[in-house]
Amino acid sequence: MHDLKALDRLSQDKAVRYAELAAEIEAVLEGETNRTARMATIAGMLKQAFEHFFWVGFYGVDPERPDELVVGPYQGTLGCLRIAFGRGVCGAVAVSRRTEIVDDVNAFPGHIACDTRSRSEIVLPVFDSLGRLIAVLDVDATQPAAFDATDAEGLARILAASFAHSAS
Ligand code: SME
Repeated sequence: MHDLKALDRLSQDKAVRYAELAAEIEAVLEGETNRTARMATIAGMLKQAFEHFFWVGFYGVDPERPDELVVGPYQGTLGCLRIAFGRGVCGAVAVSRRTEIVDDVNAFPGHIACDTRSRSEIVLPVFDSLGRLIAVLDVDATQPAAFDATDAEGLARILAASFAHSAS
């Protein structure tokens, strides 16, 4: 069994912390091909690694409604179940397929307030090995402007290593 206590010893420097966390996540996920298990593990490990991650989780593309996201594994307070493509930050990222960093969610047109305590967020697209959008990763914080390019890079690397190598 992998030593999860290692998460307590992650570096204070954010970029280093992401690199260490990526290695931890890779070790824990080794050999696990189930996508739900991978997403649940990543959400749990991210929540533990960063205290200010108030809500962290995945919205998957619904195979039955390809223009709708449906909530997947997450950690935090109750999340909205479904988000149409184009709605809110997650829906915008599902359409643009580009990472969004929102310093003030109240200034984002159409932002969906699942929990009014969320003040800033980062949302990244998640692709499979064929480059198909399978989900978005949403991280919310209660402080404004909690996310920057280091978060975008660190999270993108974890997502690429975890999902862009399998089409399942
Ligand atoms: N913030 C998201 C909605 C999802 S919840 O915050 C968990 C958005 O506007 O896309």
